[in-house]
Amino acid sequence: MPDQDSIAPAAPLARRLDGVSSSAIRDLLAITQRPDIISLAGGLPDPSLMPADRISTVVAEALSERTTLQYTATVGTTPLRETIAARAGAHPDAVVVTHGSQQALSLLSQVLLDAPGEGGSDVVVEDPAYTGALQCFDLIGARLHRVPLTADGLDTDALEGMLAAGLRPTVVHTVSTFHNPGGVTLSPRRRRHLADLAERYGFWMIEDNPYADLWYDTPPPAALATYSDRVISLGSTSKILAPTLRVGWMIAPEPVRAAVELVKQSADLCGSTLTQTVAARLLADDGWLEEHLTGLRRVYGERARALSAALAERIPRLSTTHPDGGMFVWGTFTDGTTTSDLLERAVDEGVAFVPGAAFGPAHRSSLRVCFATADPRTLTEGVDRLARAVDASAVR
Ligand SMILES: Cc1ncc(COP(=O)(O)O)c(C=O)c1O
Repeated sequence: MPDQDSIAPAAPLARRLDGVSSSAIRDLLAITQRPDIISLAGGLPDPSLMPADRISTVVAEALSERTTLQYTATVGTTPLRETIAARAGAHPDAVVVTHGSQQALSLLSQVLLDAPGEGGSDVVVEDPAYTGALQCFDLIGARLHRVPLTADGLDTDALEGMLAAGLRPTVVHTVSTFHNPGGVTLSPRRRRHLADLAERYGFWMIEDNPYADLWYDTPPPAALATYSDRVISLGSTSKILAPTLRVGWMIAPEPVRAAVELVKQSADLCGSTLTQTVAARLLADDGWLEEHLTGLRRVYGERARALSAALAERIPRLSTTHPDGGMFVWGTFTDGTTTSDLLERAVDEGVAFVPGAAFGPAHRSSLRVCFATADPRTLTEGVDRLARAVDASAVR
């Protein structure tokens, strides 16, 4: 037995974790699990709208073939890659199935970005940005450059100004359609402009696109990949089928696709053959899928309208987006209310939201609310509670 003095402390964690914190939203979700709280904080699709019976039937069918219990290719099963490619108008070889689209972001960060000791990489993100992407870029130690998000999506004129001033990003990350958290969509003009900038300055665009099928009135503009071959397209079954499948994908040109395959081998060897088989069968069943999506669009559309209307009526000092797809409304207080302070009072009143600072330091007076998980009556009650919290903070 070594004496106490000769026991060395355990080796520290890798330096790349310095300053990387847990997602504020994940932490918040833990607080808002209380049953008396109406949580508008999570970004969760409604489990009652997930096709549980259909999934159960397909799982039973799939398990009759023992191959669904086996390992599969690192890039995913062939039927799923073919189905994803057919829906996107791409070649199946360009598809890599990932463990949710979050894994695609993580793998892409490793494949495209250099760590600070290797010279570092510059990455453009939207302001506000999807926190899951920020975490991946932070973990590598990329230098982040925030470009404002406007009603038309990423402000490509502001980006052009930064590029003209010398910025040379490796990647521009965009949630182009029904933004999380911003609720807005990149206009066709700006898609074209962004694609032109990518050609001129040689960066990759990551189009992070899990919400495109959740449109409420009219379909969104064509995907960025129709404008340029500098696009890496990400998609997911999480918001349209069920997050538990953990089936997302990336459609990427060579050599990015090959590099991702290599890194994915070390991450997980392969995804789940079973859930990929389920996803392939559901996504390939056009008639069923269309009916299912039509149902989701109707219900989520009603909820989006109910939440927007209640916020406009009850909290006029909150200027909000009016999303025509996705799951989120983004609001900004016109009187400078600090939303992280407001949250405490809101939780006392029985409602939760995500303060804007989670998505970027400039957004202290903004908040994100999710309309997907609650019915219109609950959403209206949640807004009533929020209005009481706002009134109470104005009184102090
Ligand atoms: C913009 C965006 N990208 C990616 C993801 C990750 O989703 P998943 O890994 O479930 O596909 C989310 C989840 O909320 C998201 O909002």
